[in-house]
Amino acid sequence: SPLPDLVVVGSGFFGLTIAERCANELDLKVLVLERRHHVGGNAYSEREPETGIEVHKYGAHLFHTSNERVWEYVNRFTDFTNYQHRVFGKYDGQVYSLPLNLSLINVFFGKSHTPDEARALIAEQASEFRTEDASNLEEKAISLIGRPLYEAFIKGYTAKQWQTDPTELSPDIITRLPVRYNFDNRYFNDKYEGLPVDGYTAWLERMADSPNIEVRLETDFFDVRDEFQGKVPIVYTGPVDEYFGNSEGRLSWRTVDLEAEVVDVDDFQGCSVMNYNDQGVPYTRIHEFKHFHPERTYLPGKSVIVHEYSRFAEETDEPYYPINTAEDREKLLRYRDLAKKEPMTLFGGRLGTYKYLDMHMAIGSALSMYDNKLKPHFTEGAPLT
Ligand code: FDA
Repeated sequence: SPLPDLVVVGSGFFGLTIAERCANELDLKVLVLERRHHVGGNAYSEREPETGIEVHKYGAHLFHTSNERVWEYVNRFTDFTNYQHRVFGKYDGQVYSLPLNLSLINVFFGKSHTPDEARALIAEQASEFRTEDASNLEEKAISLIGRPLYEAFIKGYTAKQWQTDPTELSPDIITRLPVRYNFDNRYFNDKYEGLPVDGYTAWLERMADSPNIEVRLETDFFDVRDEFQGKVPIVYTGPVDEYFGNSEGRLSWRTVDLEAEVVDVDDFQGCSVMNYNDQGVPYTRIHEFKHFHPERTYLPGKSVIVHEYSRFAEETDEPYYPINTAEDREKLLRYRDLAKKEPMTLFGGRLGTYKYLDMHMAIGSALSMYDNKLKPHFTEGAPLT
């Protein structure tokens, strides 16, 4: 078959944004290679068959942005509900409203505080360590919010996320631990927030729906790279270390295990996400997916819940969150040098750049790559890289 004008490796938001723009604005023939059996990367979701409840297969995905261009762009493919994300957390037999806010402080200390009283209380408790002197994550957190809140809301959760005692973790992992001295418990501060009305997969499939785009599922780039490499421009959104055969060593990632089950109860926990802050509870959170779409009609007496466990990723696990140790950063610099020498390949997305990117950031950065690299290359013959 004739060569396409552009090959995109990976059909997550980054790859699909590139493919959609090049196909629809530049009228290029785009071939998208995807090794999974579906498009959409980690934002993919599907209906649990028994209940019809939409489950985000790779962890809960909440869309939010303050970027006008990204908001305008995503609205071409989907409408959004007015869902606003809020998270609750269990600790020692009580439920608290997160993030750290005045309601949590009042419940936790068992008495009402004005904003100024709460501020003074936390400042007093935080005076145990100076932030500049903190030699590990525990000391840093205590210097920011004091020991009582740290021990209840940060210590156990962090230890479970990192499988490491916080006294063994670098203080650099946290820069700030914001405390809201009011009752605002919205999780995100962005101007726009919502969930795609008919689900993530419908949105993602609409992005790929063009006569100029061919998607080949269950196709690993590394099995077919000889057909394309050096012959057509490639936008690669897979892991950067894998592209170079891990020549500089593997970059380290955390992964999550997600265990979904149908429960015979209408409402399991009364909210979409409940964090579990006690160190003795092995999971970090439980998601109850029907609460993401309260506007939908559901079968009575059933719900889908997903327990989430966090751990270091092994070679065969899905890479989710970059760990970004000093060693990782050195390897990444070497991979970036190698990437610069690849004349026909551009690297993008969270795996291609080894950066945690929210969806709006992945889309925004793909739109920039399109503007700054692909469009000038294809319309004016500018060098690709
Ligand atoms: P993404 O990982 O989505 O896609 C890459 C694709 O490339 C995958 O489909 C993969 O199979 C494919 N691929 C890799 N190597 C390949 C190869 N060799 N050949 C063929 N295909 C290959 N964001 C947000 O805004 N709100 C949220 O609430 C969340 N929540 C969240 C939870 C969890 C657990 C994670 C891990 C991430 C989030 N995100 C998020 C982030 C969101 O998932 C992220 O922004 C997008 O996945 C980024 O899209 P990419 O296209 O960069 O990568």
